[in-house]
Amino acid sequence: MKSSVPFRWQRKDLVGLRDLERWELDLILDRAFQVRKRPKDPHELPLAGKTVVLFFVEPSTRTRISFEIAARRLGANVLALEGGTSSLQKGETLLDTVRNLQAFDADIVVLRHWAAGTPTVLARRLQLAVVNAGDGAHEHPTQALADLFTIRDRLGQIEGVRVTIVGDILYSRVARSNLWGLLKYDAKVTLVGPRTLLPRSFGDLPIRLTHSLEEGVEGAQVILLLRIQHERHNQMHFPSLAEYVRLYQLRPCHLKKAHPELLIMHPGPVHRNVELSDELFHSSHSVILEQAANGITVRTAILEVLAERLPAR
Ligand code: NCD
Repeated sequence: MKSSVPFRWQRKDLVGLRDLERWELDLILDRAFQVRKRPKDPHELPLAGKTVVLFFVEPSTRTRISFEIAARRLGANVLALEGGTSSLQKGETLLDTVRNLQAFDADIVVLRHWAAGTPTVLARRLQLAVVNAGDGAHEHPTQALADLFTIRDRLGQIEGVRVTIVGDILYSRVARSNLWGLLKYDAKVTLVGPRTLLPRSFGDLPIRLTHSLEEGVEGAQVILLLRIQHERHNQMHFPSLAEYVRLYQLRPCHLKKAHPELLIMHPGPVHRNVELSDELFHSSHSVILEQAANGITVRTAILEVLAERLPAR
């Protein structure tokens, strides 16, 4: 499939979806569909001779491994650096650490950090390409692109699709990036969560907010569930986990009101029997593992697109 997008990618970095144009999302998604069609080991290696550093200052399984698989498939030299074993522990600033990676001729740094905005700061100050692999509760653009890819793949389009996002919206970068992406396609978004975890500022957006899961799942074609981001909570946001589960766990009884071909999505890691019942996790509605696998395809597309903008050395 040839891309229907008439423009070329211009950006050095990918730090978030909020500021991207709709055609830029289409360009990456179209490329991801092309990636999926071709053999896993391409003849051409667009990242041959290039160095990709995976710099993860927060835990990760899916994002880190899928970037590693993607970068290796494209022929890159892949190096991994973790927050706990890097010189950040000795008091070096993040900017100085990444400046050193640049001095070592790294071409792309994939950064996960607990502080919102760190990828943007590095992208502005450095020449290497920066990919945001999740910054605090701010953005997680590559996860949202994998989610958009899954929706388009399964439902044929993203435009007008009814998507319900459930859970810890306040602390979720996945919710934010998905929201910015989905709104560019005029998807019909509903956010569901307890009062304490639904940011009031989202009330100004053309979306529906509700505290009732029963109400929120009505007519939904996609339900995107979110983990409670305990590591970012510095106070209790609900009386007990048992109460949260009673009110916000997705169970078979909720499906009666949803679209018959409902897709259940979750970026992982899943807390078993918290966000959804085990029965639904294993049901035919669940595309959770497919969504994770799509992460490789989409991250391959992202690295390829960014590679085309890298200066020749
Ligand atoms: C998410 C993240 O790290 O933001 N996971 C992921 O990247 N697949 C979601 C989460 O941690 O709950």
